[in-house]
Amino acid sequence: MSRNMFFNSRSIAFCLVFFSLTLIADAQHWTYDDVQAWCNVSETCCKGKHQSPIDLTRSFPTTLYTTVDEFTFTNYDKKPKSVILENNGKQIVGEFADITPKPTVSGAGLSETYSLDYFRFAWGRNDKEGSEHSINGFHGPLELHLIHYNTKFANTSVAADSGEKDALLMISIIYSLSLWDNPTLTKITDKLKNVTYANEKVKAEGFAPKNFLPSCQSRFFKYYGSYTIPPCTEVVLHLIFEKTQYVSWAQMENFRTLYETEKGVEPKVPINHSFRPIQQLNDRTVAHIQERNNFCWVLPWS
Ligand SMILES: *[C@@H]1O[C@H](CO)[C@@H](O)[C@H](O)[C@H]1NC(C)=O
Ligand SMILES: *[C@@H]1O[C@H](CO)[C@@H](O)[C@H](O)[C@H]1NC(C)=O
Ligand SMILES: *[C@@H]1O[C@H](CO)[C@@H](O)[C@H](O)[C@H]1NC(C)=O
Ligand SMILES: *[C@@H]1O[C@H](CO)[C@@H](O)[C@H](O)[C@H]1NC(C)=O
Repeated sequence: MSRNMFFNSRSIAFCLVFFSLTLIADAQHWTYDDVQAWCNVSETCCKGKHQSPIDLTRSFPTTLYTTVDEFTFTNYDKKPKSVILENNGKQIVGEFADITPKPTVSGAGLSETYSLDYFRFAWGRNDKEGSEHSINGFHGPLELHLIHYNTKFANTSVAADSGEKDALLMISIIYSLSLWDNPTLTKITDKLKNVTYANEKVKAEGFAPKNFLPSCQSRFFKYYGSYTIPPCTEVVLHLIFEKTQYVSWAQMENFRTLYETEKGVEPKVPINHSFRPIQQLNDRTVAHIQERNNFCWVLPWS
């Protein structure tokens, strides 16, 4: 009996070592626990000079104030029958599958029209961290990215392959903590138990993409950066609304019950955070933008 157990634990240990070696050999494997190793997936992650996320400040000279015309959000008000959510092992990603024609955004100083492809969330181990971008050092517990591609390309992957600095448009919304549930997020957080494990998908009740947007859209930050996950390609124009949306602590807890391992795989590995640390600004400037004919109030954060 004890011999058998000895033998079994030896073979388990052997399997684990073998498994870890396989992971090291797999260049695509990366984790938020070791962001230094992202370099092994793509050198751009550590050598790139225009990486994301960054801290957004309101201080001259790195931030320049400017005014623009209003946004044109087209089909953002169309409500699809469902929203498809997936645990991809790193984050929660989602798509508005059946909105046709696809929602697009233009105006607001954008020189092109961008088509909405998918969205994803970044969060942290506790409510003091989670958002990828920060504003004057403030991090919210959650950040949403609405990922769009420039409509002169066929889709997101063709756009990203172009290498152009504005091939993709990422509109980001930072959430701040509230006592009240955010009703749009409830449609998502109620379904997170159905995507507890990697590669699980679920259909959530449909809602219009515009429900994600904050009430005040007339003030935002803009800069050129990168994907915030490997391969960290520098093809992303980032817009970050200055006005936060809200999320309750109870809703946040739903994000913290997810695993990066597939169902049945032991040991279970929790996705306990899914944000990349702040990157250097280097030679870039950030535009702090106000729409010309549309004023709304945003409380400045400390
Ligand atoms: C790349 O991966 C190897 C093996 O895990 C590790 O030893 C090395 O430190 C990694 N490189 C970086 C830059 O982290
Ligand atoms: C993107 O478009 C290209 C060219 O039309 C096509 O070959 C490719 O399959 C498309 N990729 C996806 C993910 O739809
Ligand atoms: C989600 O999971 C619950 C049980 O946890 C189950 O009752 C429900 O049918 C699932 N919903 C979907 C859409 O899979
Ligand atoms: C996060 O998850 C890793 C395993 O992936 C674990 O080692 C670590 O202790 C966790 N951290 C927290 C704060 O739960």
